[in-house]
Amino acid sequence: MSDVMDWDAAYRGHIFAGPPPWNIGKPQPTIANLIAAGQVHDPVLDAGCGVGDLTLALAQAGHDVTGIDISTEAINHAAEQATSRGLTARFIQGDARDLAALGLGEPQFSTVIDCTLFHSLPIDARDDYLRGTSAAANPGAHLYLLVFTTDSLPTDSPCPVPNLVTEAEVRDAVAKHWTVDSIEPSHVAVRLPDIPNLPKHNFRTDEDGLTYLPALLLTAHKTA
Ligand SMILES: C[S@@+](CC[C@H](N)C(=O)[O-])C[C@H]1O[C@@H](n2cnc3c(N)ncnc32)[C@H](O)[C@@H]1O
Repeated sequence: MSDVMDWDAAYRGHIFAGPPPWNIGKPQPTIANLIAAGQVHDPVLDAGCGVGDLTLALAQAGHDVTGIDISTEAINHAAEQATSRGLTARFIQGDARDLAALGLGEPQFSTVIDCTLFHSLPIDARDDYLRGTSAAANPGAHLYLLVFTTDSLPTDSPCPVPNLVTEAEVRDAVAKHWTVDSIEPSHVAVRLPDIPNLPKHNFRTDEDGLTYLPALLLTAHKTA
């Protein structure tokens, strides 16, 4: 199955006629709430970290965090930001489908955060990815996975549309490798570009120009 998009091209501004919609300059509010609630324990893996808004915020807060992403463009940007801000975070460019190939095959993380990576993967890559995250997790570690639902975006848009999920679909996929604790309605905040065919909607927007698209937050743990 083909990739959702050319991620480097997206980060170079060639797909959305500007920065990608998910680059909001700060962690997703849903994930920020988890951090504020003390639910993120070190060491942390930020899987599909993009330009590192979350990884860097965690580093800034003193967390031991590793960000991985397939996009060289995004990882370079994240690493430059860490250097210029004097933050310590580990960034690895590579494919989340094979964490072992990135030196992340053994249990070492107490929190795995998937902030919109799952729906960015080809469907046939999900199982390898989830198996790898579980293998890289310490016993008792938590997985937080924020994912777009089927009512988030129109599938017939000329813009690349991620692999949107139903609740049952994401639960079944994750449950093969993790113990699922909860799945709650949530949102992904984006700078919504002009998407043709976007169905009429009343998605919430805020004073910063962010639009809140429907999503699910799945929480799971690795059985000790
Ligand atoms: C929607 S973006 C989210 C980025 C970041 N988590 C955020 O919230 O800003 C999805 C990210 O997944 C990355 N990605 C896609 N496929 C990947 C793969 N196979 N392995 C690692 N990263 C991947 C993309 O490069 C992109 O940065």
